[in-house]
Parts: sequence; C-alpha cells; structure tokens
Amino acid sequence: MEYTTLGATGTEVSRICLGCMSFGSEEPWMLDEEASREIIDRAVELGINFFDTANAYSAGESEEILGRALDERDRAEQVVATKTFFPVGEDGPNQSGLSRKAIEQELSDSLDRLGMDTVDLLQIHRWDDDTPIENTLGALDDAVRRGEVRHLGASSMWAYQLADALETSRARGLERFVSMQNHYHLAYREEEREMLPLCEREDVGVIPWGPLGQGYLTRPHDELEATTRGDPANHHNPTPEYDAGGGEEINERVQELAADYGVSMAQLSLAWLLHKEWVTAPVVGTTSVEHLEEAVEAVEIDLADSDIDYLEAPYEPQPIIGHE
Ligand SMILES: NC(=O)c1ccc[n+]([C@@H]2O[C@H](COP(=O)([O-])OP(=O)(O)OC[C@H]3O[C@@H](n4cnc5c(N)ncnc54)[C@H](OP(=O)(O)O)[C@@H]3O)[C@@H](O)[C@H]2O)c1
Repeated sequence: MEYTTLGATGTEVSRICLGCMSFGSEEPWMLDEEASREIIDRAVELGINFFDTANAYSAGESEEILGRALDERDRAEQVVATKTFFPVGEDGPNQSGLSRKAIEQELSDSLDRLGMDTVDLLQIHRWDDDTPIENTLGALDDAVRRGEVRHLGASSMWAYQLADALETSRARGLERFVSMQNHYHLAYREEEREMLPLCEREDVGVIPWGPLGQGYLTRPHDELEATTRGDPANHHNPTPEYDAGGGEEINERVQELAADYGVSMAQLSLAWLLHKEWVTAPVVGTTSVEHLEEAVEAVEIDLADSDIDYLEAPYEPQPIIGHE
C-alpha cells in the first residue's frame, strides 16, 4: 500500500480509503456485521488505514460495525472519518443540519457508536443553508478543542461555499476544513472547473466519493442493472446523467483499455483517479473482498499519458450531481 498526506494535516493515509456506506441492514445491498467485518479485516491486512463512515449510514449501524471491528486494531495507525448533517433514521426538529445543537448531539452519538473518544476527521456531509457558516465552524472548532475531533472536513458543496468557509476560519482563527469529499470520477468531472483547483491552492485533501461512478465504471453499460445495487429499485444510480455526458463512450473506452492493460474496468477507472494530482485517496465502496483486493492493486497501475487523454476525450459537461 502507498500512503500520502491528508491535506495540510501531516497525517498519513492509505491511497485507498474504505467507504463504509454498505455496512448495515437498511438496504438490500448492505452487508451484515459478520460480512462487513471480513471486508474491514482484509482492508487492514492490505494496509488500508483510512475509513469513511457517516452517522446516517444505515441509521448508525455502519459506525457501530466499523468501531467494533477496529477496536481490536492498533488505533494509532487508523484514520477514521465520519460525517454529520443528514438525520439518523427518521428526521425531526434538531436531528439534522449543522446547528451547534445538532452537531454536538450527533457527534456525541457518533463517538458512542464508534466506541471512540476521538474521531480523526469529522466531515460536514452537506452545506446547511439555515445555519450561518461561522456558527457551524464555531461548534466544530469547539469539538476539536474538547479533543473529540482531530480534523474537520467538508463534502459536496459549491466551490464558493468552501472558499467562504476557509476564509471564515482564517478571519476568526477557527479550525479549517482540511479535506473535501466530493463526487468525482471519469464519468463526472464537473469538479475540475472550480472545486479541485481551489482545493489544490488551499492544500485541502481530496477524497472523492463514488469513485467508480457507483458501479457505472465497473461493467459494460448494458449490464449496469445486473447487480442488486444496480437495480434502480434499490439505489439511484445517475446513469442517464452520466450517459448524457459522454458516459457510454467513456465506459467503452474503459472496457477497451482495461483489456489492453490486463486489468478490470474498476481497476482502470481507479487508476485514472489515482493519476490525478489533486486526489489524495478515492473512497471506494465494495461488498466483496475480491473487489477490495482489486482496488488495492489499482494503486500499482501506471497509465500512459496518451491513454489518460483517450479516456477523458468523450466527456461532456453535465448537470451537477451530489449537491444542489
Ligand atoms: N460524501 C458523500 O456525500 C458520499 C456519497 C456517496 C458515497 N460516499 C462514500 O463513498 C463510498 C463509495 O461510494 P459508492 O459505494 O456509492 O461508490 P463506488 O465506490 O463508486 O461504487 C461502488 C459500486 O461499485 C461496485 N464495485 C466496486 N469495486 C468493483 C469491482 N472491482 N468490480 C466490479 N464492481 C465493483 C460495487 O459493487 P460490489 O459491492 O459488488 O463490490 C458497488 O456497487 C461510500 O461507501 C461512502 O463512504 C459519500
């Protein structure tokens, strides 16, 4: 495994982050604790030390499963990230959003579920239009001072919002966001316009979610609905949007080059992301040990510049997906 630094933190993270959204029981494609544990154990064996969960994943079950699995591990080596914003289970007043009250309650519950005193990275899952960012940053900064959180991260939002947050932190002497978890992959590159250059300028680490297009880049486009998760009844995959952005042609080029390199489509797609200098570590979701092993092997793939250009050429601008 290769390791790199997460933004300006000095903290070393593996180049593959294990996404833990598929641990729990809320959806038919999720894994129970025993099966999730197999993935987490294998990830640790393979050198992955970076794990991404959220309070809302399977109404908190994902955090519980991850916390119990890592409990037996050397926590000094692990970098655990969670998120807050969306409600855990059913929504109600003050059960979501980024007010001081919601952040303090949700963080306390997340730490309980994880079985940890401190979480390495607390990310705001989305921007909250109802709470001024200085209030949110004040509450997050206090959580760092209390020792409950080491670093703060952000997720899908407009670049102007991240710029606003970074400037607010600077002006008020508050902890700043050290990472951006955004929607970015070969078939969705809108982030290259403003968000990624901003992250580069500000030394904000980039940890793309859905790096395989939530499955879109892992199999031929006429087989996308073949898996339980690929069935539109079980999960919204933005296939029509990707298709409209040159996705089918990109998918075919991924198939072609994967065969040339002797790797899987998922590996080739991850290799493309890992070649992008602004990417720290893609947050990969999988329910299979074999697919996890493939993701780790993708770190070794060396893509020719001409092949990167070939993969990128069919892309066309598309509507924003991941935030409003
Ligand atoms: N911040 C946010 O708003 C946000 C939003 C969404 C997700 N996330 C994070 O990002 C993580 C990943 O997201 P994601 O799961 O939606 O997207 P993803 O990693 O792009 O795609 C996962 C899908 O690809 C399939 N896959 C993975 N490796 C494969 C391989 N080698 N061959 C064939 N298929 C393969 C998986 O199937 P198998 O299960 O069969 O491997 C699964 O259906 C989540 O776990 C979560 O931590 C964050």
